[in-house]
Amino acid sequence: MEQNLLELKNIHKSFGENLIHQGVSLTLKKGESLGLLGGSGTGKSVLLRSIIGLERIDRGEILFHQERIEHLSENQLTPYRIKMSYSFQNGALFDSVNVFENIAYPLFEHTKLSYDEIKTKVADMLKLIDLEGKEELMPSDLSGGMQKRVGMARSMILNPEIILYDEPTAGLDPANTLNVVSLMQKLKQKGIASIFVTHDISSAIMLCDRIIVLHQGKIIFNDTPMHFQRSDNPIVQKFINSKE
Ligand SMILES: Nc1ncnc2c1ncn2[C@@H]1O[C@H](COP(=O)(O)OP(=O)(O)OP(=O)(O)O)[C@@H](O)[C@H]1O
Ligand SMILES: [Mg+2]
Repeated sequence: MEQNLLELKNIHKSFGENLIHQGVSLTLKKGESLGLLGGSGTGKSVLLRSIIGLERIDRGEILFHQERIEHLSENQLTPYRIKMSYSFQNGALFDSVNVFENIAYPLFEHTKLSYDEIKTKVADMLKLIDLEGKEELMPSDLSGGMQKRVGMARSMILNPEIILYDEPTAGLDPANTLNVVSLMQKLKQKGIASIFVTHDISSAIMLCDRIIVLHQGKIIFNDTPMHFQRSDNPIVQKFINSKE
């Protein structure tokens, strides 16, 4: 049987009195794409941040390649954060530097590649995101959709095994949404696994192998997009009908 790339076991997390996760468990296999849905404030972003240790869970286990990582220190987590890339909810480009420097940053930070090697890698990446030759542009010269794609390019320049996407299509018009989703599709075809947090149900259905619904601290649905659409679970139905 294929082994899990990532496994969450019985995760509990609260902020003071505010119980966020009350026994969340899930698995992610190599190349698999998982859509994580849930109302606003249900703890989707906190779950992604917990996976890479930006939040500390109160109880439970996080396994990457069968190895527990939830207790590791910041320094010990660095190699895992390269393998599991987190694409922030709000894009987070460096405004004062150009597209090249934004995408190249992790390569300068974490590799010993020469400047020419980095230039080649960034140029290849720009081709992949349909921004060939745009190295010199500043973030302010780009549309919202282009900025998202540059942010995603930076997230994947170190060849992660998993990308954690936090609402990559939020605030985009339909054309830019389609561009971002088709980029996610290309990355999926390269065998990169992902967890896709979104309110955009149709993109999740299009892209994901499985849909997970988080509700009141627990996962109340975990099945294929087809079963999701046919589910008679009232919470799932409310979701499908709300088209948030
Ligand atoms: N650092 C923090 N300290 C205290 N409370 C927090 C912190 N981060 C998140 N929360 C709370 O945890 C809950 C879950 O937040 P989270 O950002 O994960 O929601 P979400 O599901 O991503 O929502 P949205 O769909 O609006 O992005 C919210 O009630 C939020 O206020
Ligand atoms: Mg969020």
